[in-house]
Amino acid sequence: MTTFETPSLVIRGFKIFKDKLNIDEQNKLISDLREIAKDAPLSSPLVPGGNKMSVKMTSAGKYGWFSDGEGYRYIDCQPNGNNWPQIPGSILNIWKKFVSIERIPDCCLINYYSESAKMGLHQDNDEADFNWPVLSISLGDDALFRIGNNKKGGKTDSFWLNSGDIVLMGGDARLKHHGVDRIRFGTSRLLKNGGRINLTLRVVD
Ligand code: SIN
Ligand code: MN
Repeated sequence: MTTFETPSLVIRGFKIFKDKLNIDEQNKLISDLREIAKDAPLSSPLVPGGNKMSVKMTSAGKYGWFSDGEGYRYIDCQPNGNNWPQIPGSILNIWKKFVSIERIPDCCLINYYSESAKMGLHQDNDEADFNWPVLSISLGDDALFRIGNNKKGGKTDSFWLNSGDIVLMGGDARLKHHGVDRIRFGTSRLLKNGGRINLTLRVVD
């Protein structure tokens, strides 16, 4: 695994690459994501306890990330029995540029944040091999991203992510808590109706 690019900044092991996708690349991603959402519509997952997440989600790839009253997990087909859509080349190319050409990710989790959506601090730990990083791509409105520690609690740092930014969560950052406090609605014109999309690419098996 090689990082071919130099990060703009590194905070607690999170490698942040600012402004890595030009507007044509961002628009291409959005049009590919629209096709995915036709096949695998966005919905708000239930979390254990019965509440609905404020973020809407869907997935592409061999696995989709899924949550219901029973807990979080990856599932190898959509709840309706259909396969998840394939991860488009436009997204895989970013993985190849920032992570590896040796293995492609098994899952692209697609998160949509409307005006009031947020995501609590959590770890990405449903994958089998933490040697593979999670690659995050931000599109649309700005988001206040918070990072914490391997264990729950303790001091945190926050920073804004903008459309076209990429974050590599590997090494020391791989099991650190992270989340999104809020978005700054209307800061980007990438999505006609506003909001933010975050893609996270994961090796699952
Ligand atoms: C996630 O941790 O799944 C999403 C992170 C983000 O929205 O930037
Ligand atoms: Mn996460």
